Amino acid sequence: MLKSPPMTELLLATSENIARAAQVIQNGGLVAFPTETVYGLGADALNVEAITRIFSAKERPVADPLIVHLSGLEQVSSVARSTPPIAEKLAKTFWPGPLTLILPKQPAVPGLVTSGLDTVAVRVPDHPVALALIRAAQCPIAAPSANRFGHTSPTTARHVWDDLQGRVDIILDDGETTVGVESTVLDISTSPPRILRPGGITQEMLEAVIGTVTISRQHRSVTKGLPSPGMLKKHYAPHTEMVLFLGENARERLIAEVKTACTAGKLVGALALDEDVEILKAAGAVVYTLGADIASVARHLYAGMRWLDKQNVDVIVCRGFGESGLGLAILDRLVCAATRVVT
Ligand code: TXA
Ligand code: MG
Repeated sequence: MLKSPPMTELLLATSENIARAAQVIQNGGLVAFPTETVYGLGADALNVEAITRIFSAKERPVADPLIVHLSGLEQVSSVARSTPPIAEKLAKTFWPGPLTLILPKQPAVPGLVTSGLDTVAVRVPDHPVALALIRAAQCPIAAPSANRFGHTSPTTARHVWDDLQGRVDIILDDGETTVGVESTVLDISTSPPRILRPGGITQEMLEAVIGTVTISRQHRSVTKGLPSPGMLKKHYAPHTEMVLFLGENARERLIAEVKTACTAGKLVGALALDEDVEILKAAGAVVYTLGADIASVARHLYAGMRWLDKQNVDVIVCRGFGESGLGLAILDRLVCAATRVVT
């Protein structure tokens, strides 16, 4: 039966509304919910029709597999065939938290969730609303970030509304997410294990627990500031053209570019650390302040991109924030979001 497009309800994440949202999940509906990283767009991971609705709501290509969200380590066996000792060690250390592990898939998980792969991505989110929803729904919840495909991930319920209103049943609002960038995706089938996407749990944190961890080639090239052409496909991106400054004197080159563009009559938006705010305003930019430290930059980055989009600036400029710790995850997102990288 063809379903008419849902009337989206934006609801505060009270226990009553979480219970209602869990029923919607059980009935094959779509619920956007907060996690510690970004808002997710959730559906019953074992219900093919519900998963199909995720892909159409996001306009996401089916070749891009989803992360399955669980309420605890004990639920892993419902979606994974086995849990290698290293996975158990990582889960015990970092779950609930922003670490996604790639494990051998249970046949019960529809191929649509994993894009036909024999592996499944799983994580336990560190957010009381997400955990309560998964428990109440009594099923694993598949959830990509709750944005239109290619767009900036949502860190507030309002961001989700802006992208998916009329396409999902319920959006549970619990304010801003705290980490701000997506989870780290770790492939433990290789030796040493390999980070497929840098995120909330850093390479340094992983290495402290399991020794050497490598980063996929795609991301190594990012760290050199030399994105391969494929990396310039837009993802995590604002609608406005974005220029990223990397390498030596990035700060000075960025400021010079802002001055030139503003003099030429362009409206320039800048994502900036506290320490750069005054000088960029003086140069004529519309500035979104990301804060003073790397955790704050991660937390506010996507909100800043969306806010500058709304100011109708002609171009957004930003620089990298180093490569250690969360800096690498931020760099990865900035390189993907940028239309031009200047080194
Ligand atoms: O923090 C997060 O991870 C958020 C929140 C909602 O949990 N979710 C999220 O989902 O960012 P999404 O769909 O935007 O990104 C999922 C990532 C993609 O890069 C995908 O390629 C990877 O996980 N992935 C999923 N299943 C995989 C698998 N079996 N093997 C390798 N990579 C996989
Ligand atoms: Mg995403």
